[in-house]
Amino acid sequence: MKIIKKINQLNKYISNVSNVGFVPTMGGLHKGHISLIKKSKKMAGKTLVSIFVNPTQFDKKKDFLIYPRCLKKDLVKLKKAKVDFVFIPSANEIYFKKRKRKIVINKKYKILCSKFRKGHFEGVLDVVERFIKIINPKFIFFGEKDYQQFFLIKKYFSGKFKTKIILCKTIRDKNKIALSTRNQLLNKNQMQIASNISKKFIIFKNQIDYKISNSNKLNQIKYFLINKYKIKIDYLEIIDK
Ligand code: PAF
Repeated sequence: MKIIKKINQLNKYISNVSNVGFVPTMGGLHKGHISLIKKSKKMAGKTLVSIFVNPTQFDKKKDFLIYPRCLKKDLVKLKKAKVDFVFIPSANEIYFKKRKRKIVINKKYKILCSKFRKGHFEGVLDVVERFIKIINPKFIFFGEKDYQQFFLIKKYFSGKFKTKIILCKTIRDKNKIALSTRNQLLNKNQMQIASNISKKFIIFKNQIDYKISNSNKLNQIKYFLINKYKIKIDYLEIIDK
């Protein structure tokens, strides 16, 4: 497994490889990431994983600072998963070149997380585009857990680049919580609450009758969760994919 920090070093290794599968990550690797890597290893000749905590996609500085970082453990996992290349660039390396045109997300997509996390998806689109230009992969892999991220990347980049954008299934733990690096920031009690909420949503999802409005039921669940767990809910919506 080659560990690479500089773009010119990366070019030396992959410029002649035409079938690179690319798994972009911000580290804090879990079985969700490993499932993306497994898919890449099935579909592509060589697999490249990036670890880069992208500062531009955090709308709050504190969130960026406390984001879990565990490079040593990540490298052990990547070696075990038989990844070919790991790219760990610095922010300077990625953002050295200024963009010609600012990323602007169409108003009609300013929904769900885009409405509540200012600049988040603009930051994601910016960094993903930079990575695609540097690596020129045959495939790039994303988890269904972040469906809005996948949706926007597909909207903005399929057709613009040759890279095929592949969606992979959400991986959940035995308590039905979708695996996420940020789960490391939750304590035992908060994980239990997250599990109860996930289970409630899964039951509700299976009961949805798409022929009628479900807004009453949705509001009932929303206020039940707010009262029971004393949490703030930014949004809870049913959306046509
Ligand atoms: O999904 C993530 O971990 C990040 O948003 C990504 C795609 C690696 C871009 O920084």
